[in-house]
Amino acid sequence: MEKFVISGGNRLCGEVRISGAKNAAVAILPAVLLADSPSVIENLPNISDVRNILQVLSMLGAKVRFINKSTVEIDPRNVNSFVVSPQMAEGMRASSYFLGALLGRMKKARVAPPGGCNFGVRPIDQHIKGFEMLGARVSFEKGMVDARADELRGSSVYLDVVSVGATINIMLAAAKATGLTVIENAAREPHIVDLANYLNSMGANIMGAGTSVIKIRGVENLQGTTYSIIPDQIEAGTYMAAAVATQGDVLINNVTPKHLESIIAKLRETGAVITEFDEAVRVTMDRRPRKCNVKTMPHPGFPTDMQPQMATVLAIAEGTSIVTEGVWDNRFRYIEQLTLMGADAQVDGKTAVITGVEKLVAAPVKAVDLRAGAAMLIAGLVAEGETFVEEIERIDRGYEDVVEKLTNLGADIKRVYYPDGIEILKQA
Ligand code: EPU
Repeated sequence: MEKFVISGGNRLCGEVRISGAKNAAVAILPAVLLADSPSVIENLPNISDVRNILQVLSMLGAKVRFINKSTVEIDPRNVNSFVVSPQMAEGMRASSYFLGALLGRMKKARVAPPGGCNFGVRPIDQHIKGFEMLGARVSFEKGMVDARADELRGSSVYLDVVSVGATINIMLAAAKATGLTVIENAAREPHIVDLANYLNSMGANIMGAGTSVIKIRGVENLQGTTYSIIPDQIEAGTYMAAAVATQGDVLINNVTPKHLESIIAKLRETGAVITEFDEAVRVTMDRRPRKCNVKTMPHPGFPTDMQPQMATVLAIAEGTSIVTEGVWDNRFRYIEQLTLMGADAQVDGKTAVITGVEKLVAAPVKAVDLRAGAAMLIAGLVAEGETFVEEIERIDRGYEDVVEKLTNLGADIKRVYYPDGIEILKQA
């Protein structure tokens, strides 16, 4: 079992380079299946979610070859299976993108239901509605989602909820359908635009990505291409929040500042000084954070995937802040962990009331989900004493080289391996 051990109290100072975006990568990798020739994908983050998807691709018959740590060539020509079994899909929310990608490629897909973080119910009814509108028959057999079509025909799909996953899956299924598909009330996240750019660079005809109406005119064939994934907005936001919490001074490189607008706005409200450059932001903080209220919303609102990290900043702020979750039913499970470290926070449904304390104190805590884990890291960085963060495989799903990056910024953090209760420092 691995844990992170963090000795809090160090200001984060220096520079950090942000990796490619997890949520773009997990959509773009299945999309390589739609092409008739190999793609080279650059700026891939080396995280377990990406490694799992590459493994699924190779189990389906694709040839996967790393060119360097962050560049992979994928040749989909020999893919002949349309089944992603429960073992292959385990723990991965993005397994659902194989439904859209395999349906688009082979007109049939059988995929185990998605896993991923536990925020209460995570339905896929809008994905299924989209596939059905395109002419697919969708059924549930032996715990698998089975989608088949004789022909996929463009159609108009109105999403009842703004869903990133449904928007992506419908784009994947529609890219090679006959005629025009219109997605209304589509999600507008940067990773949706990134997927559209990748598909268009392969020959697709997708307009409007980044707005709430996306038009996809189906094309017969797509050809593989070389494509570089956008920087990870949430990884960047996490280091920004860590810089603010530790009253640090950090230059965050390889980011798209436009994607960070809501995060920048809220961190400025806490008193941070943030300077934007073309592909970097500098975050400087020289005081205890001020309170501020935050409500998460689909893009361009404040991202739900930054809610736990922001709440941790507010846990040590002056005054009382109100954090409202507007996307997921249950994304406050981490608050209990934060209170173990001395935070003063109460949750009532989708709202948390957080009264800042002067200091957090070290405690053994768990990463109850990926971003909750990121919040525990920030809490550990500011807490007095040694914080042990457990269940860190959830953090490894989405943060590349987190120990190295934080150590370079001056944090005291180690990954520790415990076989049978004996403590051994893991060699880098
Ligand atoms: N929803 C439905 N029906 C559906 C799909 C979604 O009711 O068919 C609801 C959900 O229950 C939720 C809301 O719509 O209340 C938004 O869900 P969405 O489909 O947008 O989420 P997702 O595609 O499953 C992605 C990210 C999440 C991120 C959300 C919201 C990936 C792989 N995951 O999930 O990222 O929280 O969008 O922005 O892209 C993370 O990276 O830590 C993470 C959890």
